[in-house]
Amino acid sequence: MSEAKIPLAGVIGSPIEHSKSPALHGHWLQRYGIKGHYVPMNIAHDALEDCLRALPKMGFVGVNVTIPHKETVLNIADSVTDRAALIGAANTLTFNEDGKIYADNTDGYGFIENLKQGAPNWDPKAGPAAVLGAGGASRAVLSALLDAGVERILLANRTKARSEALKAEFGARISVFDWVHANTMIEETNTVVNTTSLGMQGNAPLNVSLEGLRPETVVTDIVYAPLETEFLKTAREAGCTTVDGLGMLLYQAAPGFERWFGQRPEVDEDLRQAVLSA
Ligand code: ATR
Repeated sequence: MSEAKIPLAGVIGSPIEHSKSPALHGHWLQRYGIKGHYVPMNIAHDALEDCLRALPKMGFVGVNVTIPHKETVLNIADSVTDRAALIGAANTLTFNEDGKIYADNTDGYGFIENLKQGAPNWDPKAGPAAVLGAGGASRAVLSALLDAGVERILLANRTKARSEALKAEFGARISVFDWVHANTMIEETNTVVNTTSLGMQGNAPLNVSLEGLRPETVVTDIVYAPLETEFLKTAREAGCTTVDGLGMLLYQAAPGFERWFGQRPEVDEDLRQAVLSA
C-alpha cells in the first residue's frame, strides 16, 4: 500500500531561531487544514549544497532561504529566474519531482504587494521614487519599483560606490545622490523607501530629515521591528501615507506556500497578529 505523501517545506539559514517564517507558514497550514510541515533548519555554509541535494529525497517540496545563503544558492540551483538573477539572491527554492532546484526571488513581489495594500492610491507613474540604502534589500526594492513602472529612482547610500554599482546594473532610470543630500532628494519624490537597517530595534535611527516631505508622498520602511519606526512616525505626522515593513515579509511568503502546498494563501490581520506574537 502506498503512503500519501506529506509535503515538507522549511527555511534554511544560520542563525535561524529568530526567523518568523515557521510561524507564518504554520499559521497558513493550520488555517487551510493542510497536512504538511514547515521547519526551521540551521545549515552551515559548508554543508549547504549537500543538504539542498538531500532535501528533495527526504520529502521536501521546497524551502525559503535566508541569511547567509541567499546569494550562494544561485550557484547551486539548476535554474534561476530572471528576477532572482537580477537581484543577485534567491529567497524561495522549489524542488521538482526529479530533485532539480528552481530558485526564485519573491522579495520584490512582497515589497510591491505590501505597498499596494497599504497605499491603495499609490501611483508608480505619479513621480520619482527615493530609495535609501544600496544593500541586498535595496536590490529587490529597485527591481520591484522599476517593474511597477516607476520612471525615475533617486538612490542614496552611505557608501556611494554601492549606489553607483546598482546604477550600472539597473540602468539609466536610476540617479545617484550623496548620502548627505538624501533629505533634499526626498523633497521631489512621490515615494520614499528606507531599505537600510537603520531604525530597527537595537540600531541607530535613520537620521535623514523629512522636513521638505510633501503630504502626497507615500513613505515605506522595510524595517518591521518596531512596526512604526521613527522614520515612519515622522512621515505620518507630516501627513503622508505610511506603510510598515511587516507586510513585505508576509507577502513574500505567499508564492512559495502556493507552489509547495497548492493553496493560494491570504495575507490578513489574523496572519499579522500570529507573526507579531511569534
Ligand atoms: P541588506 O541585505 O539587509 O540590505 P546590507 O547589504 O548589509 O543588508 O545593507 C545594509 C544597508 O544599510 C546598506 O545600505 C548600508 O549602507 P552601507 O552600504 O554604507 O554600509 C545601510 N546602513 C547600515 N548602517 C548604516 C548607518 N549607520 N548609516 C547609514 N547607512 C547604514
